[in-house]
Amino acid sequence: MEPGCLRLAVLASGRGSNFLAILEAIKQGRLNAQIEVLISDKSAALALQKAEEAGIPHIFIDPSLFPDRPSYESEIVKQLQAREIDLVVLAGYMRLVGKVLLQAYPHRIVNIHPALLPSFTGLHAQRQAVDYGVKFSGCTVHFVDDGMDTGPIIEQVVVPVLPDDSEDDLAERILVQEHELYARVLQWIAEGRVYIEGRKIYVDHD
Ligand code: GAR
Repeated sequence: MEPGCLRLAVLASGRGSNFLAILEAIKQGRLNAQIEVLISDKSAALALQKAEEAGIPHIFIDPSLFPDRPSYESEIVKQLQAREIDLVVLAGYMRLVGKVLLQAYPHRIVNIHPALLPSFTGLHAQRQAVDYGVKFSGCTVHFVDDGMDTGPIIEQVVVPVLPDDSEDDLAERILVQEHELYARVLQWIAEGRVYIEGRKIYVDHD
């Protein structure tokens, strides 16, 4: 991607703390980007309310109004293209991304996952880590492909799992790292430092 101010769309299904962390990084000048729109698939998503409070354009697109995933995603693509979006940022977007969105934005959709992929994909990643008894978990930012949390990994941060951690304890400590990691990776993309070769991602740190 060419270096410059990134026009972002954030897709979120829930609380929206990663959305707010990205917005804060932009305000603080750590991230050269602009959030053009927040799109949610859930009318009750707190993320929509937070976007409203922050004065960011926000849209609820109701998946139940569409006969299938391609037509639902075509509506998303229409909204993204109308705003000339460079990069689609999944932030707690709890749906698999299908062909229509992937083909419209090849290698231009990123996701954050609260585990060290390829471990603990899907829902309740932090609970899976606690239940499995791993000593380290963390978070991963990756490009999205047609699998569940399977796309090429851009960067990961390790978070220790403490002996008495509950799912919530671990989730809380991982979330702090997510907020820092996502803004950092997005800035690398804005600076044109991220290169893709098959499954491997190289970041130019010079
Ligand atoms: C975050 O922990 C994010 O990593 C996770 O959902 C949470 C959203 O929080 N995403 C996934 O599990 C995706 N597989 P937020 O709405 O406060 O940003």
